[in-house]
Amino acid sequence: MLDFSQFYELSVAERLKRIEASFEQNLELETADHMVENLVSILGLPLGVACHFVIDNQPVWVPMAIEEPSVIAAASHMAKLASVRGGFKTQVDPPIMMGQIQLLDAPDWDRAAQVISGHQLELLELANTYCQTLKARGGGCLSLRLKNLSSQMAVLEVLINCQDAMGANLINTVMEGLAPKIEELTGASAGFKILSNLSDQRLAKSRCEIPYAMLASDKTHDQGRYIAQRIIKGYEFACLDPYRACTHNKGVMNGIDAVVIATGNDWRAVEAGAHAYASQKPGGYGPLTHFELNDQDSCLAAFIELPLALGVVGGITQSHPTVRACLELMGTFGKSAQKLAGLIASVGLAQNLGAMRALAAEGIQKGHMALHHRKQI
Ligand code: MEV
Repeated sequence: MLDFSQFYELSVAERLKRIEASFEQNLELETADHMVENLVSILGLPLGVACHFVIDNQPVWVPMAIEEPSVIAAASHMAKLASVRGGFKTQVDPPIMMGQIQLLDAPDWDRAAQVISGHQLELLELANTYCQTLKARGGGCLSLRLKNLSSQMAVLEVLINCQDAMGANLINTVMEGLAPKIEELTGASAGFKILSNLSDQRLAKSRCEIPYAMLASDKTHDQGRYIAQRIIKGYEFACLDPYRACTHNKGVMNGIDAVVIATGNDWRAVEAGAHAYASQKPGGYGPLTHFELNDQDSCLAAFIELPLALGVVGGITQSHPTVRACLELMGTFGKSAQKLAGLIASVGLAQNLGAMRALAAEGIQKGHMALHHRKQI
């Protein structure tokens, strides 16, 4: 069992010693020079560790790279409250992503669709030649289909199991490799060939429960239930008004982005996917989380669901020493893209719960911000 006690009271040096991971070595100019063009410097961000997370019965320390005060404290605090009822339970889809080939001006779209479905196996075999290492690791191209968009335009959608990679580069390679054969078979001309960041085949879900009494400053059931009711009203506000839903989701992404950045993942892709997914709710753009009162068990039940395209291999996961240390710190959660997605969804949920509790109780400035600066978490 990891020892979270008094972590906030330790000096940085003592914390580093405690977590036994090497955070001393940072990204060097020479390595960074191979990553981008016209390099002039390296921008630092504070990197902290959120405590008290128990995910699928496993305690884990969560690295978070973020400049905003109170985020790490709030996530840790809500994780501590959730741990009273066993912490977070997750459910994560297999790592399936979509690649797209835009098709223009086919002589006959019905015939094009028939030809694609008739050559499905042959096309998948060809597609898999462009991602042989992935195929050898048990991933690869699974299916493809033609979807009509207008009288002049269609899209070939290819589903690919990316295993522990985020998948962007390998999907783009497969799309570019496959396109000439698709043009030959359909008579269409291929336009854009690229992955889709709306990775809704790759959803991560997490849930937790907070006993009513834990939500109240006086730790009473009645005060806690009152706050839980106000949280539900705040949630309904987000369901009814996109202006509120956007801020609600910003609070979710405070937690999600911080871990996505610490683990060297593409936060622009995660942000784009999350908000596109939120805009597909039945009433239009809505909250990524969901809350219910559970009076039978005297607790607030909280849920999150969003697409999370993440990798624990590829990109800067190996080349950036701090990212490597962050992945190591998380043990098995840093070794599997699916486990990492469950963890990150849980952090988003905890973060949102922290903001909701503060907004429903004493207000964000008084409550949430008061967690900042070495308060007990
Ligand atoms: C601030 O970074 C995030 C919040 O605005 C989120 C919310 O309003 O739910 C506090």
